[in-house]
Amino acid sequence: MTHTRRILITSALPYINGVKHLGNLAGSMLPADVYARVMRLKGHEVTYICATDEHGTPAELAAQAAGQTVQQYCDEQYEIQRQAGEGFLLSYDWFGRTSRPANHKLTQHFAQQLEKNGLIESQTSKQVYAVDDGRFLPDRYVEGTCPHCGYEKARGDQCDNCGRLLDPTDLKNPYSAVTGSRNIEVRDTEHLYLQQTGMQDTIRAWVNEKGKAWPSLAVSIANKWLDEGLIARSITRDLSWGVKVTSADGSPRPGFENKVFYVWFDAPIGYISATQEWAEATGNDWEKLWKRDKGADKTEYVQFMGKDNVAFHTVSFPVTLLGSGEPWKTVDKLKAFNWVTWYGGKFSTSSKRGVFMDQALSLLPADYWRWYLIANAPEGSDAAFTWEGFQAAVNSDLANVLGNFVNRITKYCASKFDGKIPESGTPGEAEAWMANELSTRLKAIDEYYEAMEFRKAAAETRALWAAGNEYLTKAEPWVKYKSDVDGAAVGVRAGINLAAIFAIVAQPIIPDAARKVLDALGIPEGNRRWPTWNDENLMDAMPRGAPITPPEVLFQKIEDAQVAEWTERFGGGKE
Ligand code: MF3
Ligand code: ZN
Repeated sequence: MTHTRRILITSALPYINGVKHLGNLAGSMLPADVYARVMRLKGHEVTYICATDEHGTPAELAAQAAGQTVQQYCDEQYEIQRQAGEGFLLSYDWFGRTSRPANHKLTQHFAQQLEKNGLIESQTSKQVYAVDDGRFLPDRYVEGTCPHCGYEKARGDQCDNCGRLLDPTDLKNPYSAVTGSRNIEVRDTEHLYLQQTGMQDTIRAWVNEKGKAWPSLAVSIANKWLDEGLIARSITRDLSWGVKVTSADGSPRPGFENKVFYVWFDAPIGYISATQEWAEATGNDWEKLWKRDKGADKTEYVQFMGKDNVAFHTVSFPVTLLGSGEPWKTVDKLKAFNWVTWYGGKFSTSSKRGVFMDQALSLLPADYWRWYLIANAPEGSDAAFTWEGFQAAVNSDLANVLGNFVNRITKYCASKFDGKIPESGTPGEAEAWMANELSTRLKAIDEYYEAMEFRKAAAETRALWAAGNEYLTKAEPWVKYKSDVDGAAVGVRAGINLAAIFAIVAQPIIPDAARKVLDALGIPEGNRRWPTWNDENLMDAMPRGAPITPPEVLFQKIEDAQVAEWTERFGGGKE
């Protein structure tokens, strides 16, 4: 018996401003889901938490563009994202919202703790003020010319052209992103600053310790920030949508009535507050996941995110958690991804490049996308989505290799063995070969998942399916049947058992198709758990004589005409 691990999994919280594209899905939520499914199949206690990240200027600006209040906009978009997640079979234990009361309360709590520990100070700074709009213009509310590259539509927080992070006052020729007004002044305003400098040594020690279990990319990003030296970071903004700034007694903090916390301060706290929501709704205990003195020392916490989020998760959020002086759980394993590109370029709605989650599901079932995106996960480097690659993966891996195997063997069993798992015959050379393939490859698949190497896990899964086809070619039950029915029976029995194993190990990536196979083979829920690679009886595990049925066609091939049509609609290689 292996011991049961308690595993907390989070994927970076998607911004509320619009449905995510396939690249966003592939770089955090999807691999987190696959990992959660593997660990559940292995019998571990898994809690997979996600939520929408709802504050900040992107939400306000998108709401304004949609002619809605921010609350209305967020309510609607939350529902759309929740449904897209469900459509993609993302098995969240909870999909929360950072705009919910639990997150407001917890964010205010952290601010109180940090202040109590001398890590928050109020300072006056200069901010861009739009005289005609009668408001300050934080972050993306102001646009102008990038001081570094001269790009004329740089946003206050970042230049999309050269990628540099900016402060709104850096911009030349600034104008309001809300009204376009150029009547801009720089005025004094008071904000709370998180004194990260005071946490430099603590964070360094923490990274040295915890970073041993992170990929080198994450450690080097964290160290780069630490080497540059942590500086005080403003954690409030002149906005009305967000978490209100309070005094110790919970009342509005004088001078901050029209301010809220910065979105990057409250968003990661959403991991905890969404876990609280889950606990509240389901009668579970959230503290054993998040409080080190309440059992979380025995919890493994795994985070999934795109590479642009690493600094926030290895430095900023830890400052909040450790600076509170309370025994909060911090990340143990961290998995960061590069980008999925659209033919090497950016996904872009406005220039019709790329597919978004809801559109994808209107074309093909979730499994098709899930398979392609995991098999091509942007792990070592960026990975390009192409229609041609997608078509090839679906047609060859899913339809030809897996679909064909299951189809061939189940149909043959139905027609020659009355749809019952054959009972006679003794295994021979071909079965010995396959047994060896099985144990080697199952072990490798398991190790790749443990190491969170998703691309390799998928490649190995495909190789296992391919070995199944090779086995059938060796065993040739259809040839043997004419002269040696018992010999054919062994091959069919092994083949049916293999179909079950192939589906069992496919469950994390293509849960829907796997379920169809397992249902057709009559495998009870309780027997769908992760196989142990050293089990010698794998090819004769199902009850002999039990009835099976061929499943309906598992995967439809993608036709060239469909590729042509989708290229036209969503863009392709040529811009
Ligand atoms: N919304 C952010 C993004 O999409 C990620 C937030 S992760 C969190 O890049 F931890 F802050 F929630
Ligand atoms: Zn620039």
